Amino acid sequence: MKIAMGNDHTAVEMKKVIKAYVEAKGYEVIDLGTNGSESCDYPLFGEKVAQAVSAGEADYGIAICGTGIGIGIAASKVKGIRVCTCSEPYSARLSRMHNNSNVLTFGARVIGDEMAKMIVDQWLDSTYEGGRHQRRVDQLAEIEMRNR
Ligand code: RB5
Repeated sequence: MKIAMGNDHTAVEMKKVIKAYVEAKGYEVIDLGTNGSESCDYPLFGEKVAQAVSAGEADYGIAICGTGIGIGIAASKVKGIRVCTCSEPYSARLSRMHNNSNVLTFGARVIGDEMAKMIVDQWLDSTYEGGRHQRRVDQLAEIEMRNR
């Protein structure tokens, strides 16, 4: 299983920690940057992560900026992407089970490394339930089609 990861300058250190963490869990990471400390713009990295997932180059995406919000908004603009921006593990778990989320974002200025690991664990270890949720997930795709 492959995870595309991306971040802005606020989250270089957290990205390194989470990258090593998911690699230790057996995932292959496609690191789309940034890995420099100079200020950069989160939309580019949200888009890169989302495109990797949308194109099938990665199974999941994890994107980190200061709050997780900007990079999540950017990722959610890409076709087929369902973002969850989480600061705690419960929402991460339910976003997989009910929303079939495929990109997780969080904020390096909001949560610490250990909370980020708990969120990642719940997100990666939870499975989409389908069933009654599929109708709603299909409706999300229909919104995309209507608003192209
Ligand atoms: C950068 O200062 C900050 O705006 C960015 O990391 C992110 O929090 C945006 O949503």
